[in-house]
Amino acid sequence: MELVQVLHMKEGVGDASYANNSGLQKTVISKAKHVAEKAITNLYCSIMPQCLGIAELGCSSGPNALFVILELVSTAYKACQKLGRQLPEIQVFLNDLPGNDFNTLFKTVTKFQQNLSQEMGNGVGPCYFMGVPGSFYGRLFPNRSLHFVHSSYSVHWLSQVPPGLEDNKGNIFMSSSSPPSALMAYYAQFQKDFSVFLKHRAEEIVEGGRMVITIMGRRSEDPTSKECCYSWELLALALRDMVSEGLIEEEKLDSFNIPQYTPSPTEMKLEIEKDGSFVIDQLEVFEVDWDCYESDGPCNAAKCMRAVAESMFAAHFGSGIIEEVFRRHREIVVDRMSKEKPQYVNLVVSMTRNG
Ligand SMILES: C[S@@+](CC[C@H](N)C(=O)[O-])C[C@H]1O[C@@H](n2cnc3c(N)ncnc32)[C@H](O)[C@@H]1O
Repeated sequence: MELVQVLHMKEGVGDASYANNSGLQKTVISKAKHVAEKAITNLYCSIMPQCLGIAELGCSSGPNALFVILELVSTAYKACQKLGRQLPEIQVFLNDLPGNDFNTLFKTVTKFQQNLSQEMGNGVGPCYFMGVPGSFYGRLFPNRSLHFVHSSYSVHWLSQVPPGLEDNKGNIFMSSSSPPSALMAYYAQFQKDFSVFLKHRAEEIVEGGRMVITIMGRRSEDPTSKECCYSWELLALALRDMVSEGLIEEEKLDSFNIPQYTPSPTEMKLEIEKDGSFVIDQLEVFEVDWDCYESDGPCNAAKCMRAVAESMFAAHFGSGIIEEVFRRHREIVVDRMSKEKPQYVNLVVSMTRNG
């Protein structure tokens, strides 16, 4: 599957859109905020650039990207004011894959400028916004042109479905019933992709620049542990039901796998140390409940999965069965959440580009 073409969050601002179903991701950003704030404060105090270049990678189309940027910009301004210096100009680069709904995102920039004035008073800014369509597994920016890179809930997406998953039958992700070869294929793809990601960012970030990345992960060293596999497993359940009723061909299910990897802190640390271009300043693990953000919890947890996964499912299984897959999935999620309290495990890592 060419991920670049099929992966995009549900566009627009409708009921099923990512913009309206990304409260969970917003909670994740809020919980990791202290790490990003500390990093940008330290960055500003050590480099004090006249024009501060900030990139948000995998920004998507919802309100979260500018929510992060508002935090980062106002934190940098406050650090600058404390030092009694003139406020820097700010250049903000919003990156995602070319299929992302950048139009919906750009429409919210005016509101951002108003929010920034409200937070910091009139006379601050402007911030200069730029869209950067492309994969973060390739080069996106000129050499040594960025001071700060932020990304939330994006870098757990791999560049492609790992090769070598032929025997991962009946599963759509890593699972306790996956053969060892499939688990190795997933891990190998993560190692390859994350090292490429680090290599490119190391070229683009100035010496002393910072990068803060939050991704889905796990505490355990077991890649099939429930903490990281459960949400995809519930979608696999819905698909298996439909296969058993003859609504989906078995071969279709067997040949479908999600291009995502949820590493442990040790696996993440290992890749950063192997690359050697960044020094880890902070690495934290934290949980969020699936229904952390809205009152009608289970339905939102299901809608959030749909807003993320629909484009990939439609590309593989055809748009005709989408309603039914996600209807069944919603029922399963509601049932499970009435009996247990599932959580997503998240890793946030803050690092500095060394010399
Ligand atoms: C779940 S969304 C997170 C969006 C936003 N950061 C948030 O927290 O709400 C993940 C985003 O990562 C983007 N993405 C995945 N792989 C990417 C890649 N290789 N390059 C750029 N963006 C990518 C997806 O298109 C999607 O918009």
